[in-house]
Amino acid sequence: MAPVAVENVPTAPAVESLKAQLAATSLVDLRAYPHIDNTPGIGTEFHAGGLQIGDVLADPAKIKALGRLVSERGVVFFRDADITPEQQKVLVQALGEAGGKPASSGLHVHPLTLPGQVDGDEISVISNKFVFGEKFKREDGDIRNRRWGKDQWHSDITFENVPSDYASLVIRTLPKVGGDTLWASAYDAYDRLSEPLQRLLEGLTAQHSGESFLRINAVYGGKPVREPRGSPDNVGQDLLTVHPVIRTNPVTGWKGLFVNKGFTKRIVELTAPESDALLDFLFDHISANHDIQVRFRWEKNSLAIWDNRSTFHAATADLDGILREGTRSVSLGERPYYDPKSKSRREDLEAREKSGN
Ligand SMILES: [Fe+2]
Repeated sequence: MAPVAVENVPTAPAVESLKAQLAATSLVDLRAYPHIDNTPGIGTEFHAGGLQIGDVLADPAKIKALGRLVSERGVVFFRDADITPEQQKVLVQALGEAGGKPASSGLHVHPLTLPGQVDGDEISVISNKFVFGEKFKREDGDIRNRRWGKDQWHSDITFENVPSDYASLVIRTLPKVGGDTLWASAYDAYDRLSEPLQRLLEGLTAQHSGESFLRINAVYGGKPVREPRGSPDNVGQDLLTVHPVIRTNPVTGWKGLFVNKGFTKRIVELTAPESDALLDFLFDHISANHDIQVRFRWEKNSLAIWDNRSTFHAATADLDGILREGTRSVSLGERPYYDPKSKSRREDLEAREKSGN
């Protein structure tokens, strides 16, 4: 089987060839490589010297298996991933293709991406000091101006009609200590709710808004935000959309909670006070319960890959002005949907254990 080129941006024929290879490929067991599960519910970490991300990129069977593992575990970490920003793009696009995403879904172009970025439109520079280039300076260094950890929780770009499936992040300018990232499981967040509340949420939809980015844009000249943003469905200047409150992950078939403090503003079917109260409860449910979370300390060459459909994440603003900067690539998946026949993660795993599968 021909390896997938990883040195350059994939050409259209290379992506087509990868799709064909993936369709004909069965899963390999990545758990045969040295690893730990960080917690019972979320996070798997491959040890240094074990599975190499370059080997994954060169082998469609491993790409398919990694996509499956990321969707099941929520987030997967590599401790010695020597990966370029270009390869980050190839990786998340390939994971999305392996998961069967629509052909019209490419890599996200953030609405505030400035033209002429060093690594191109499809890499976001994640920084605690600058947002989208030096133009957007952030307040930092004063503990009283820090953003609270509980306010940082989000899933990436859920204000888009077609939001993200997979994302990857490498922190390339590392502080000595601080700037950890936390992820929380949307599967566990759903499974921990009572059945009556689960049933209520399954019938609801919520409005998501990227108004925080529109505010930044307005401060710096108010030019139109970028469009299209990686999909013909991700157009428009309002950065507003509506998604189901409970979302089915198409790779695992599991239900997850799909509201986040960063972008979800209103549950459509409820009155404003009802929506505020319920969203406050759900945001607290995600941020306050460390038993559904994993916390990751970045090191040189650490790579994180997560499924934005079924996790939330939050960076830690504890750096007092020390620079922390990395490169992120975000793949677009499918329009979010809720399938009433989809399963709870816990129930599905328990059923599998009973049947011996
Ligand atoms: Fe994020």
